[in-house]
Amino acid sequence: MNNHAGSAAMPRHVAIIMDGNGRWAHARGLPRSAGHRKGVEALRRAVRAAGEMGIKYLTIFSFSSENWSRPPAEVSFLLDLMRHFVRQDVAELHRENVRIRIIGERSGLAPDIVTLIAETEERTRANTGLTLVVAFNYGSRQEIAKAARDLALAVKEGRIAPETITPELLGSHLATEGIPDPDLLIRTSGEQRLSNYLLWQCAYTEFVFVDEYWPDFNRETMQRAIAEYLTRERRFGGLTAQSA
Ligand code: FPP
Repeated sequence: MNNHAGSAAMPRHVAIIMDGNGRWAHARGLPRSAGHRKGVEALRRAVRAAGEMGIKYLTIFSFSSENWSRPPAEVSFLLDLMRHFVRQDVAELHRENVRIRIIGERSGLAPDIVTLIAETEERTRANTGLTLVVAFNYGSRQEIAKAARDLALAVKEGRIAPETITPELLGSHLATEGIPDPDLLIRTSGEQRLSNYLLWQCAYTEFVFVDEYWPDFNRETMQRAIAEYLTRERRFGGLTAQSA
């Protein structure tokens, strides 16, 4: 039986799919890049709100493995935004005791970004406040396939027996190793799908979809999503006291 079953307490881990930057810009006759810029401001608000609400882990989808298929100018704008965000915001996040982890595929990224990622993780490693997990060049199927390759190799080399491969062992080979599964996933802009985000980790996550485009996300949006989450009854596949 899962000890966490029953009425939901404040979520420990919130994952967000920040969607709708382009539509926000389009609605105002602005270029998509303007929406992404405003999206960074919304991200700052989300991080601050999460920290103040006592959330321990906030995972954000900043660039997916599939985003490379966007026009090259938009891809390079998003990559520059990431560079800028890291350079501009990490010092302050560090002062606020935020630990930053960046998950996703590093091979194929520009060397300066790989260095920035490594420096950021190293610098904030000992912080004990909010953990901000940035999914960057991340795709969940790719992550699971990599875990499967690692385990296959371990079997081939005789380091483990196939029978020892459990969900826990596979989970420990994912990029999110050591991070609890999300309790709540919020997607903005009215879209209702996972888009290759944390497929394994969201097995029992509660989903809340909000209509606002990401650039309009603020503390009130977060509070509303959490209020909705708090009405949910989490059963983790079991029964609750009322239905038993
Ligand atoms: C979705 O909007 C947003 C993205 C693909 C990028 C998310 C990035 C940010 C919010 C800012 C960057 C933050 C960091 C840390 C780099 P969309 O472009 O899919 O919008 P649309 O669906 O309306 O076209």
